[in-house]
Amino acid sequence: MSAGASFYITTPIFYVNDVPHIGHAYTEVAADLLARWHRQAGEDAWLLTGTDEHGQKILRTATANGVTPKEWADRLVETAWKPLLKTVDIKNDDFIRTTDERHEVNAQKFLQHLYDAGHIYTGEYEGFYCVGCEEYKQPSDLIEGTGEFIGQQVCAIHSLPVELLHEKNYFFRMSTFAERLLALYEDDPDFVQPAAARNEVISFVKQGLSDLSISRSSFDWGIKVPWDDSHVVYVWFDALLNYITAAGYGQDDEKFSRLWPATHIVGKDILRFHAVIWPAMLMAAGLPVPRRVFGHGWLLVGGEKMSKSKLTGIAPSQITDTFGSDAFRYYFMRAISFGQDGSFSWEDLSARYQSELANGFGNLASRVIAMVVRYCDGEIPVTTAFTDADAAIRATEIRVTDAAGEAISRLAIHEAIASVWELVDELNGYITIQEPWGLAKDPADRDRLDAVLFTAVRGLGTLAVLLSPVVPEACAKLWSALGGEGLVTDQRIDRAWEWTGGTHVSPLEALFPRIEATVG
Ligand code: MSP
Repeated sequence: MSAGASFYITTPIFYVNDVPHIGHAYTEVAADLLARWHRQAGEDAWLLTGTDEHGQKILRTATANGVTPKEWADRLVETAWKPLLKTVDIKNDDFIRTTDERHEVNAQKFLQHLYDAGHIYTGEYEGFYCVGCEEYKQPSDLIEGTGEFIGQQVCAIHSLPVELLHEKNYFFRMSTFAERLLALYEDDPDFVQPAAARNEVISFVKQGLSDLSISRSSFDWGIKVPWDDSHVVYVWFDALLNYITAAGYGQDDEKFSRLWPATHIVGKDILRFHAVIWPAMLMAAGLPVPRRVFGHGWLLVGGEKMSKSKLTGIAPSQITDTFGSDAFRYYFMRAISFGQDGSFSWEDLSARYQSELANGFGNLASRVIAMVVRYCDGEIPVTTAFTDADAAIRATEIRVTDAAGEAISRLAIHEAIASVWELVDELNGYITIQEPWGLAKDPADRDRLDAVLFTAVRGLGTLAVLLSPVVPEACAKLWSALGGEGLVTDQRIDRAWEWTGGTHVSPLEALFPRIEATVG
């Protein structure tokens, strides 16, 4: 396999100071959907996720809970962050923790390499630090506090006071990379996406870059600076390196050249770290920059970014316990334009579940299979006599397969699903117009009945293949009810309409059962 031939995709690694909410699950699902799609397109897709465990934020939480930071991280990883992957059905290929030895050792190699090459120097820094962001803030990043923080300057993201720090630190000469970064954004317009995020990054870098403080010496929960163990590596510098240490940097050259560079999916809150600091670090090390960095929008509650610290966090299981993981995945990927903010509401979720998943897709599948069972003893009819209406369905299968694939190549996940849904809607309209239950009454209409059910079964199989990255559980059930060969995930998604199946259907339970209880 040639260098970087795979589709390597990453999520941010998540802070373990608290348990996940639906904003974290949103990022996981988006990256997982893209990985599943590329895997099904026959690519060597590799999904990495993991946890960010060093730094002051985790140290303080652990101390407040009377345990060591490592004990705290272990507990949260095992009881909350790994279980999240099951809750929303993530098929990751790897899970990295920044406390893994493979990360710590190779992050140190990277740092030593930069030090030896003259990219790091000793300096002093005084500035306002937000522990929530784990970042030094410029005065322009701060706002007037409200409530108990009235009269104080607070972080605009966390609404909490910042701390004035004065430390002797090691610095990374980031300022020397401004021109090369600007050239990168110019030469590869897709490097930062979406376009609004790219513009924001460009104007930020055009204002000039400062050097970056990359070590801390007032606490010791972190990776030791290899040439000076009285310092630990700044938590963001440490965390960003996960993307290469997990891919074999420093210890498995073959794996590293197969996987790297990656596509990074991150929330827009951390776009600058990924689109400015991270490529500058890689340039300094002489490594290829990421393939692209996509900054998605925020899930909002009451118009504000949903967050645990503001007590607006909703646990993913609150949704999946009632609606299931497929509905979670479908709802957030369909209802929010990927790249834009979106407001979550229980009403919207329930309405889409009922009309799109239960009535639109689920019912279509149940009806078609039930008719093949009833009118054909479960045997999928074979026919060659087609009308224009049948051909139109076939044409839609091909058209939406291509359109969805094209949308995915632009990371326009919502557009891809909307394209596939054209087939759901057309098939429903087709069944209503063709009235197979009417054709079944007259033996003279047998050929026509066969053609209609054949066409509908073909269309359903195409849907199972195309929707498998979105609603994997439902599609696996539908696939086996259709007598599909092997696993649906082994069917090529870029030629979904060519799926190969068996000769018989088997009864299908409701894919999206009616939800009785009121939720919210
Ligand atoms: N640890 C850093 C990332 C290091 S990556 C090298 C971090 N962690 S985090 O736990 O705060 O999670 C950040 C990510 O969670 C965001 O970038 C975003 O992808 C996701 N989200 C957190 N809250 C969110 C919303 N309210 N809405 C959408 N996504 C959200 O930052």
